[in-house]
Amino acid sequence: MRRPIVAGNWKMNLTAKEASLLIENLLSGLKENTETGLMEIVVCPAFTALQTVAEKTKDTEIVLGAQNMHWERSGAYTGEVSPAMLVDLGCKYVIIGHSERRQYFAETDEVVNKKVKAALASNLGPIMCVGESLEERESDLTEKVIREQLLGGLKGIQSEDFENVVVAYEPVWAIGSGKAATAEDAEKVALLIRNILRELAGEVSERVRIQYGGSVKASNIGSFMAQPNIDGALVGGASLEGKGFAELIGNAK
Ligand code: 13P
Repeated sequence: MRRPIVAGNWKMNLTAKEASLLIENLLSGLKENTETGLMEIVVCPAFTALQTVAEKTKDTEIVLGAQNMHWERSGAYTGEVSPAMLVDLGCKYVIIGHSERRQYFAETDEVVNKKVKAALASNLGPIMCVGESLEERESDLTEKVIREQLLGGLKGIQSEDFENVVVAYEPVWAIGSGKAATAEDAEKVALLIRNILRELAGEVSERVRIQYGGSVKASNIGSFMAQPNIDGALVGGASLEGKGFAELIGNAK
């Protein structure tokens, strides 16, 4: 039984004050929805709001995650944040290799791999993102791209560590476009991901949680959650408003 996980990726949005207000609205929304049950709820604010959100979510069902990190513990890396710093603030998860980082900050599978290893070594759960671009999908390269990203990103990871990794399937063309993948197409790739994980690590692949991300909203989350290999969602835009995100989470049950 895999515990469902819905995570909000706030990207470069919200000051600490705005984040604080969002958490208040999210908590009151969740109370109205009650019964979020087994669901794990994660929010990933910008670094500058982590401390505030950590305080606001203390002793609540909301878990803290970050959007990125460096792989070294400390050192001369101006502008970077280390795994130990995130743990110190109470983070339990960290998004690694989001397509925006791959696209705008030249993150390669090799960099993703270093970060995934560093996260695991610090007891942070990496939410490792994979996904094909529109051009790749139209050229029938989806399977090849997903395979390369998984093999590269998870290289050298011990089988027993796999269950601490969350894989987020985010087709690049579905991110922020309002055009989500169909639940059937997302399931096809989620199954492909699980099969590749099985090749890499064996039976533990059954315990790896796979999220879908890309234009997830309150109205379509249910169709993704109904798929056998989709265990949650990574949500961008629809996580930026507390009540709305609470409704989405309520519909994810
Ligand atoms: P949207 O939900 O805004 O499409 O963003 C998805 C995403 O990139 C989450 O990481």
